[in-house]
Amino acid sequence: MEKISLKICTGTMCYVMGGAELRAMLELLPDDFMKRLSVSYSPCMGLCGDVGEPPYIQVNGKTISGVSKSNLMQILKEALNDAV
Ligand code: FES
Repeated sequence: MEKISLKICTGTMCYVMGGAELRAMLELLPDDFMKRLSVSYSPCMGLCGDVGEPPYIQVNGKTISGVSKSNLMQILKEALNDAV
């Protein structure tokens, strides 16, 4: 089964703007969901001050800005559905 690559920026800007919550949220997800993810963290994606809004994540290499706890699950579910 193909895994979804999820990278979360945990640089200072992204961390204080919600990256910390995203990271904590992953720890609460069920194991069978986490098995489908390949999670990594970035000390900074180099996008600070860019037009987007932190925190930044990358899903299968696609950069997404302004991610919150409420839309992270939707983003991941869509990525999992696309991988099927
Ligand atoms: S801290 Fe997230 S892009 Fe720099």
